[in-house]
Amino acid sequence: MSADGDRKNALFIRCGIWGFAGVALAAVFLPTGLKAHSGAHGVVMDRMEIMISHDEARAAIENMLFGDADYDAQRIQAYAKAIADQSGDALTKLFPEDSLHQPSLALPAIWQDWEAFKALAQELKRNAETLEEAAARYPAKSSQDTQPQVTGDITVEQAFEALGDTCNSCHLKFRQR
Ligand code: HEC
Repeated sequence: MSADGDRKNALFIRCGIWGFAGVALAAVFLPTGLKAHSGAHGVVMDRMEIMISHDEARAAIENMLFGDADYDAQRIQAYAKAIADQSGDALTKLFPEDSLHQPSLALPAIWQDWEAFKALAQELKRNAETLEEAAARYPAKSSQDTQPQVTGDITVEQAFEALGDTCNSCHLKFRQR
């Protein structure tokens, strides 16, 4: 948990410094009519914050499925819903064309292959919803092994893996590092 806290602090410091530099530069160089771009500092910060909370949700679920934390289907549903709510259009709208300024880790490929990027953001939403539904079907961890599986139904673990694959595919193509 403290590692997450440290990441969040580092992000706020990064955004704070660049946000301040951006505002100062805008004040010096831009005529007042040209302020439209200063809001872009907001979108980079906003989407990084969303990504960090996606990461916290992923880590918490992983810990319930494979780590020390107790399995809690309702918590998994809540985390999955939070991811679903902040993906699809809610996510892509935070990527206006060429919003690549510091401290963004986004790659220009996003706007060169916008359809693929959008499709992955939609896939994230669908997979998070599928995970939410799976957790609703399996109130206890053991029920994943004992309940007869209806054809087409996937377990919480399978849904979680599919979700993680979507995070990774998007980062591989559209994020630095
Ligand atoms: C549609 C593409 C896409 C999907 C899906 C996606 N990400 Fe990201 N992620 C990005 C991009 C692009 C960035 C860089 C954003 C920026 O810095 O402007 C990023 C950044 C991040 C960061 C770094 C934040 C920071 O500033 O330190 C983390 C952590 C992260 N994502 C976690 C996740 C997790 C976990 C998931 C899945 C639950 C996920 N992402 C799904 C595109 C995606």
